[in-house]
Amino acid sequence: MPSSVITIDGPAASGKSSVARILAQRLGYIYVNTGNMYRAMTWAVLQTGIDPNDAETVRATAEGIVIESPVSEGQTQVSVNGRLLTAEDLNSDPVNRGVSLVARVPEVRARLVADQRALAELGSLVMEGRDIGSVVFPESPLKFYIDASEEVRAARRSAQGHTDQVAERDRLDSTRKTSPLVIPEGAVVIDNSHLTLEGAVQAVLDRLPSSAPA
Ligand code: DC
Repeated sequence: MPSSVITIDGPAASGKSSVARILAQRLGYIYVNTGNMYRAMTWAVLQTGIDPNDAETVRATAEGIVIESPVSEGQTQVSVNGRLLTAEDLNSDPVNRGVSLVARVPEVRARLVADQRALAELGSLVMEGRDIGSVVFPESPLKFYIDASEEVRAARRSAQGHTDQVAERDRLDSTRKTSPLVIPEGAVVIDNSHLTLEGAVQAVLDRLPSSAPA
């Protein structure tokens, strides 16, 4: 059977990561969190001491950084120059603040998009991010956009112990020139502001063709 890619896009703290992870487990697909790839690049850029606002220096520095995505327990991890990063590394305050700046650099995006496409060789994927249905796998017939109200997203983010401004990150992600956050053409939109996690997962499963394993 040819491998398939279920694409899940949406704004920060919309609940898309939790939905994507559980969906992948149910289907036996590999879960790929592409935000972590941009976060890893940001972590590496910050290690060099440069300002993430300086796009030209970010571009030049990123060229020398090796990002890999080894699979472990059904999901991709992310390493920088051979060092596996932890959730703490990826979700630190400086990374939260810098990631949308690093992610708007076209050369950084081009490279990570190519890496993301190559992951399809591993098998069927549930891949989540901001441009997966619009740019990375636009030909996928299985596209979802998970949304939630700004209030619900801010509350979820602070419940996770983070103090970053999701509205500001969304503004940067939605207005950048290269592959901004959009609802991909043909995507099913699921607003999960008032759904439980299980309800949101079920809403996706209900829209998959019956040939996909449940
Ligand atoms: O999913 P996340 O909140 O961890 O993503 C962190 C940032 O990475 C997000 O604010 C924008 C960027 N990103 C992106 O530009 N494209 C993606 N496919 C995934 C994330």
